[in-house]
Amino acid sequence: PTVTSSHIPTSSKYQLPQLPSIPAANPQRQILDAFRLAAASLIAEAWGEDPAKIFEGCDVGKKGADLAVAIPRFKKGKPDEWAAKVLEAFQPSNYLSKVSFEKPFLAFTFNKESFTYHVLRQIQLCSLAARQEPSNPTLPYGAVNENEGKLMVIDFSSPNIAKPFHAGHLRSTIIGAVISNMHEAFGWKVKRINYLGDWGTQYGKLSIGFDRYGSEEELVKDPIKHLFKVYVKINEDDAAEEARYNAGEEIDSETTVHALAKKVFKDMEDGEPKAIAQWSRFRDLSIEALVGVYDKLNIHFDEYWGESQVRKESMQRAIDICLEKKLTCEDRGALLVDLMEWKMDRAIIRKADGTTIYLTRDLGGAYDKYEKYHFDKHIYVVQAAQSLHFRQLYKTLELMEEPYYKEGVFEHVSFGMVNGMSTRKGTVVFLDDILEEAKEVMHEQMRSNEEKYRQIEDPETTSAIIGQTAVKIQDLSGKRVNDYTFNMQRCTSFEGDFGPFIQYSHVRLCSVQRKNPNVPIASSSDDIDISILSDPKIYDMIYHLSIFPTTLRTAYTNNEPSTLVHWCFKISHLVGAAWESVKVSGAEEEEAKARLFLYLRTREVLAYAMRLLSLTPIERM
Ligand code: ARG
Repeated sequence: PTVTSSHIPTSSKYQLPQLPSIPAANPQRQILDAFRLAAASLIAEAWGEDPAKIFEGCDVGKKGADLAVAIPRFKKGKPDEWAAKVLEAFQPSNYLSKVSFEKPFLAFTFNKESFTYHVLRQIQLCSLAARQEPSNPTLPYGAVNENEGKLMVIDFSSPNIAKPFHAGHLRSTIIGAVISNMHEAFGWKVKRINYLGDWGTQYGKLSIGFDRYGSEEELVKDPIKHLFKVYVKINEDDAAEEARYNAGEEIDSETTVHALAKKVFKDMEDGEPKAIAQWSRFRDLSIEALVGVYDKLNIHFDEYWGESQVRKESMQRAIDICLEKKLTCEDRGALLVDLMEWKMDRAIIRKADGTTIYLTRDLGGAYDKYEKYHFDKHIYVVQAAQSLHFRQLYKTLELMEEPYYKEGVFEHVSFGMVNGMSTRKGTVVFLDDILEEAKEVMHEQMRSNEEKYRQIEDPETTSAIIGQTAVKIQDLSGKRVNDYTFNMQRCTSFEGDFGPFIQYSHVRLCSVQRKNPNVPIASSSDDIDISILSDPKIYDMIYHLSIFPTTLRTAYTNNEPSTLVHWCFKISHLVGAAWESVKVSGAEEEEAKARLFLYLRTREVLAYAMRLLSLTPIERM
């Protein structure tokens, strides 16, 4: 990237004096850091301290000031006296216009004009560079190419063939997509893997079920729903047999669903061609259908992998190492890793009949993926209910002394449950139905404003995108560890902090340019009169734009998309608050030009944030 050095201009009324450089500050990517550093250097000099240390304590968004520094954090004794030293040394500059003592804080006010200039300038330079080099996804404002050459494998979505794509998978899909995008923003190469649940005794069951209840025609028409229907029926048979058995009835234990399924699965594991052929058709058809759903969600994978694809040798290798390192114990013919010492129970890795289990496949799978990708980081996005499983997995890898196992390389990004997910038609939920319904609801809403509706080129696509936004934002707006209650009516609402509101703000920001074709487009922030942009409502927007890079970093570091969602809500509110008073239409030319420049930059940052959230920003609705 060549933009970096030009970020701080040398010939402008808003030229910024040189500052010491410290590792924690990155003014080339976040101009706010330069302003923080100016305050930190001033204090450091007045107190004889290290600017890097003070920099950490320059807090944004506190005490109603642009920056606040809590004196007791650094200095004992009377804060008034320490403050006086700083107040005395203070000289207004293009960085800072004022400092005051708000016991026990030092409160700084930026040179607002200069700050406005630099924030807008940085955003524009970043997006210009991104436009010139669209192949480099790490250049947009807020992104930092600091993990070049590193690879992250992320296992997300990972539904089970034959069972419905439940709310947990939906969350994994949405959260996983955002975490992947955020890693790319920080320079990681990302491999998105869908680890299908496509192996295990339940596929033996499904096979028996299909022989009994399956229909070729229905299978081809809608594989996911049909296989699920078959699966439900065969499970009913299974449950009925068990009930009869429990009631003391005599049952031929060779022909129960359970026994037959076990046998088919054993055949599958032994590679018996007939068993494999049928299973592999189910799998292929299901993947095909899933790809369609993911397309609708604007989410893609680099690889459709799955439990069935884990190499036999890798699983055997894991079992052998566990045996060799004496990590195991036996129980009724099954082999278990003993993790009692770490309060993680004992976990089966080989069943009594010699077949493998979920954990065995994850153990072998880790090795397979390492061989293939040599990853530097591996994230699993799976519901919190599986946290014991992942702790067992990592502990076992550690005890096996796998060379690729290091503290912090493997991470389980977990999340809470979704309650009450249902459609108007019933309670068993397929993702497809949810998306379809969200789209319908949005379509109905859009139709209620006939005039606007007529201007939308493709209402079908638009309503699908807003519907999808509603479902995704509802899922992403709470902290991921928390449970939430799915509510179609609420999440599709235009009032309040829901998905449609974010799209609406983007649409507004797009409409300014469209509705004011005669207002000249400024070529850069040097081409507008910054002093015109003095409204406090504008400054609030500028300030919020300036914290976007840190906000993105926080979201990325914590794997917490909600942080980014809240940034979007806030900027949307700020745009809304400015909308009536900071108008482009009807304003005098210079004013209109400056304001348009501001709205265009805001739109760029919002659109980028939305794309990171896997949303498609729309232009009209
Ligand atoms: N298929 C599993 C489920 O639906 C999730 C798989 C998660 N990934 C993994 N490597 N275990 O519960």
